[in-house]
Amino acid sequence: MTSLPTEHESRITIQGVEIALGFPDVFSFKWIGQKDVLDQLLAAWLVIDKDDIPLNPRLIGKPGVGKTTLAYAAAKKIGREVYIFQCTMDTRPEDLLITPVIDTSGGIRYVASALVTAMLRGAVCILDEANRMSEKSWASLAPLLDTRRYIESIVAGLKISAHPDFRICTTMNDDASTFELPEYIHSRLQPQIFLDFPEADEERRILRENLPFVDDEILEYVINFLQRAHGRNENYTVRDGINIARYAAKRLSSFKGSSVDKESLLRQAVVMTLGDEALSYVM
Ligand SMILES: Nc1ncnc2c1ncn2[C@@H]1O[C@H](COP(=O)(O)OP(=O)(O)OP(=O)(O)O)[C@@H](O)[C@H]1O
Ligand SMILES: [Mg+2]
Repeated sequence: MTSLPTEHESRITIQGVEIALGFPDVFSFKWIGQKDVLDQLLAAWLVIDKDDIPLNPRLIGKPGVGKTTLAYAAAKKIGREVYIFQCTMDTRPEDLLITPVIDTSGGIRYVASALVTAMLRGAVCILDEANRMSEKSWASLAPLLDTRRYIESIVAGLKISAHPDFRICTTMNDDASTFELPEYIHSRLQPQIFLDFPEADEERRILRENLPFVDDEILEYVINFLQRAHGRNENYTVRDGINIARYAAKRLSSFKGSSVDKESLLRQAVVMTLGDEALSYVM
């Protein structure tokens, strides 16, 4: 017997076993521009018939290109809670599912991961940077990611089915510090949605949204820098741009009205964020 948790309940009893649930991630992330990738993600999550099931999309792109932001914004668009599970090389199968902890009375308490909490609450789980996780951990998700839509927790002795509203999205970097996934996992994480660099105008709106307190001159400088870098397929992303602009604005503010050469301060912010080699993209 499963009793479904109500909105603010932090525990649930499944087959007589009490499990503590996690708390959702609450941010004000907004997705700007590139509507096609947002539409692709939302379509993957759609259920169009009583015999249909949602797909488990995979967002792929360079670090800092907006993968986590997109997944979060898409989940909010369909009005779901979001639970982010940050995958690492050390993620063990039970970390992904249910972990036993000793409570104050010396007994065992079971705690649901972000993933299992999302499954139970009918929410969205973002498996973030999922290709940092080893095959061993992935294996425990195989039944969840196909038509069975359940997980089996060996530690708690439970089989847990996903709520019909549960959706999952994985994000993956295409950098080197990751595991190669086995084919049976690849085939469960489809479709693949590729994120690319934004156009100048979108980049301007993204920077404006993220840094409303930074002046136009700084933002224009950073946008020109990023667009030149994108043009030559350099790996610098929006996150790098945000960091340059944020640092330049802090430096400017620390001079408190005394005269400074803004241009040289911006160059310095570029070098201190990305190194000397980035200067070749500065005008
Ligand atoms: N289209 C966008 N709309 C709004 N913000 C964006 C967009 N693209 C990037 N950003 C901003 O850029 C920064 C990096 O985005 P995010 O963390 O989502 O990237 P990521 O691809 O998940 O990076 P990583 O691979 O390192 O996890 C964030 O501050 C985010 O707000
Ligand atoms: Mg991310």
